[in-house]
Amino acid sequence: MDKNMTAAVLTSFGGPEALQVRDDVSIPNLQKGQVLVQVTAASVNNTDIWTREGAYGQPGQPNAKAGWRGQVDFPRVQGADIVGRICAVGDGVDQRRLGERVLVDPAIYDYSGDNAHPVGLLGSELDGGFAQYVAVEDVRAHNVTTSPLNDEQLACLPTAYGTAMGMLERAEIVKGDTIVVTGASGGVGFALVQLASIRGARVIGMTTSAKGDLVAEAGADVIVNRKESNLLTEMSIAAPSGLDAVADVVGGESFEWLLPLLKEGERWVIAGAVGGPVVTFDLRRLYLHNKQLIGSSMHTPLHFRKLIDEANAGRVLPRVAETFTLNDIHKAQQVFQGRRHVGKIVILPSEV
Ligand SMILES: NC(=O)c1ccc[n+]([C@@H]2O[C@H](COP(=O)([O-])OP(=O)(O)OC[C@H]3O[C@@H](n4cnc5c(N)ncnc54)[C@H](OP(=O)(O)O)[C@@H]3O)[C@@H](O)[C@H]2O)c1
Repeated sequence: MDKNMTAAVLTSFGGPEALQVRDDVSIPNLQKGQVLVQVTAASVNNTDIWTREGAYGQPGQPNAKAGWRGQVDFPRVQGADIVGRICAVGDGVDQRRLGERVLVDPAIYDYSGDNAHPVGLLGSELDGGFAQYVAVEDVRAHNVTTSPLNDEQLACLPTAYGTAMGMLERAEIVKGDTIVVTGASGGVGFALVQLASIRGARVIGMTTSAKGDLVAEAGADVIVNRKESNLLTEMSIAAPSGLDAVADVVGGESFEWLLPLLKEGERWVIAGAVGGPVVTFDLRRLYLHNKQLIGSSMHTPLHFRKLIDEANAGRVLPRVAETFTLNDIHKAQQVFQGRRHVGKIVILPSEV
């Protein structure tokens, strides 16, 4: 096997030029308990771009350059969502895993247990999958050999569907719940629509009109156009008895007007703020009605195993909006940031 590989390497915080596609990156050496994955597909996420920009800030210094957990060690191979084949195994790993098709859990947890919290991410705290090869711990490479989904579809799952699964589990969404999903055409939102609908929830998807049909196809019972001038009335018509839950990845101005539509004691679960991270709202609307505000970041090991079960059973159908080679990663990120797509943008590192 060659000693070098092609990889997209983040060299510093900065603009697109800080992300460099190089063909002289060393193929990682395997440590005990690791497997080497030949990457076939890896999807694009907001976190790749925000990490590159250092756009996460620090406590007390909102404009400080930082990754989501603070410092990032450069050079860093980005890419959290990895699908591929095991092509080598380290000491202590079962040789029979060679050749297995795997989906990698990108979360680095604070302890080993079913309900551990994610405190790091492949592609940020450790090297990720925008590369021909990546070395990962054996336990995070889940067998998806029997899944009817192709590699590109599987690559859509870890961050978007993992985050969506984490939100639905933490908010305990069940059959019969009426739930609003914001950002419903995006990676996480689309996954929320599908997974909530699979659970038997009545899903109201908030999106723009051009994307409404595809969001409805994914399982939304009602589409509300977020650019509608009278959104509050539209939403009240869509949910005349009020809402059991909101699964929010947008934040911003909708937070203040949507919160009162939640029924007594009900749940607002939030995992993103693409519409604005700083909001003002009347705290009395929260506590006087025993409403629950639930912060949700990624997934737990248990949530991820549930997602693997869904993938292997073929119950989820991720939407691949467009694919790009590793050499075209900058173009892929431009298309992603244009946000005219529905679903996920996927990089194919085996086709450099
Ligand atoms: N906490 C976590 O673990 C975690 C994990 C993954 C992502 N996230 C966060 O979740 C958010 C969504 O991620 P994503 O990957 O789904 O993003 P995405 O694919 O870019 O989708 C975001 C969607 O939000 C809608 N949108 C964009 N700007 C908006 C605005 N100003 N107001 C309302 N809606 C807007 C767009 O759909 P329409 O134009 O159709 O409305 C877009 O499709 C981001 O903030 C991301 O950082 C968090």
